[in-house]
Amino acid sequence: MGIKILTEHIGKEDLKPIDAYMKYGGYTAVKKALTSMSPDAIVEEVKKSGLRGRGGAGFPTGMKWSFLAKPEGKPRYLVCNADESEPGTFKDRYLMMHSPHTLIEGMIVSSFALGANTSYIYVRGEMMFVIRILEKAIAEAYAKGLLGKNILGSGYNLDLYVHPGGGAYICGEETALLESLEGKRGNPRNKPPFPAVSGLYACPTVVNNVESIAATSWIINNGGDEYAKIGIGKSTGTKLISACGNINNPGVYEIELGLSVEEFLYSDQYCGGIANGKKLKALVAGGSSVPILPAHLITKTANGESRLMSYESLSDGGFATGTMLGSGGFIVFDEDQCIVRNTWNFTRFYHHESCGQCSPCREGTGWMEKVLHRIEHGHGHMHDIDLLVDVAKKIEGNTICPLGDAAAWPVGSAIRHFRDEFEWHIKNPSEATRKGAVYRKEAVFA
Ligand SMILES: Cc1cc2nc3c(=O)[nH]c(=O)nc-3n(C[C@H](O)[C@H](O)[C@H](O)COP(=O)(O)O)c2cc1C
Ligand code: SF4
Repeated sequence: MGIKILTEHIGKEDLKPIDAYMKYGGYTAVKKALTSMSPDAIVEEVKKSGLRGRGGAGFPTGMKWSFLAKPEGKPRYLVCNADESEPGTFKDRYLMMHSPHTLIEGMIVSSFALGANTSYIYVRGEMMFVIRILEKAIAEAYAKGLLGKNILGSGYNLDLYVHPGGGAYICGEETALLESLEGKRGNPRNKPPFPAVSGLYACPTVVNNVESIAATSWIINNGGDEYAKIGIGKSTGTKLISACGNINNPGVYEIELGLSVEEFLYSDQYCGGIANGKKLKALVAGGSSVPILPAHLITKTANGESRLMSYESLSDGGFATGTMLGSGGFIVFDEDQCIVRNTWNFTRFYHHESCGQCSPCREGTGWMEKVLHRIEHGHGHMHDIDLLVDVAKKIEGNTICPLGDAAAWPVGSAIRHFRDEFEWHIKNPSEATRKGAVYRKEAVFA
């Protein structure tokens, strides 16, 4: 374990200047792709690699690329989703801040493979510092003939733009992002048609996460088969994980998929264990939208097998006893954290960020926030718990975009695994609202 393909050279020196990046083999993938490979051959290598989209859903990248419609006379677009607004997820900005050319190189290789001559990096508007870093790096790439007309004498032309986003979580959803890029309010579109058929300006478009695009350079340099050897099963390659909460070493780590959760959580190389010698209570493994798991289900599956950092292992047991790898936002809760308060907090976020187009999400997130607020503040009723479950179920699967599901899953999973903590809040309002008081049930800690 321990191979790094995106962050290998970060920390050795400042990789922002293009010459520093090139010293470590940067832009060799562009040269190889544009001078010795056909676009179809690149798509084939990405398919062979087994790379799955790193934005959350884990859809195979090569397969997504092969769906792209190729009508004559219409441009095709590649759009990089660098919106990154999910609570707990901060890995893309880390890569763009420390090694912007890793993304730009991947954009050139991927745009060539898709036949795109104009591509965009859509960055959350608040991250001006990242936008400035990217713009400077793009100017350097133009100056070296790696962007613009007739790149490296290959006859291929590509213009790359950075677009500041609307500063809303919903603008990370791919169709809302495209609306926003077109200058409109970031409301998700109904699907179908999918962006591969009708995306940006109604033209065929691929939207990919920063990490997915960045990985393509390594795949082109080393081959899809080599990438597929890294990782475990259908979870090939490496993954950036942003780790935060009550741990000794918060930060962004590149791990080989298949590393055990236990090693990631406790080894000094990664999270370094729970801070201040406290016990682990719960963990959100893939960003705020994935189900929360109690300590006893995060390092071991319900069958007692070691839980691994992979798409399959984290979802083992379905939502009854498992969760998802999601976007890789690893949020750790120690024994002093209140699950009700955290669930209320997440729900406030989803209510605030709902675009309001569908009633189950617009109204449901608001009702969940209200009910959670009254439980947390000592005014809850026993039937509120089932009311929350009911509202969450009615949102799930009934909305235009997955923000509705993202709002429902944290509530459903918190009640599934920590129902007695909700009951304790309702039965003991004066104790539950006392500053620093927290429900403790020894069996759930590790
Ligand atoms: C509310 C919401 C927010 C999202 N935010 C992001 C984001 O910030 N970055 C991202 O890559 N994907 C985000 N996604 C997922 C994208 O819609 C899309 O699946 C992804 O960009 C595809 O890239 P990938 O195939 O490389 O994973 C979000 C989805 C939803 C529903
Ligand atoms: S689920 Fe929510 S965020 Fe998504 S389109 Fe519907 S109202 Fe908007």
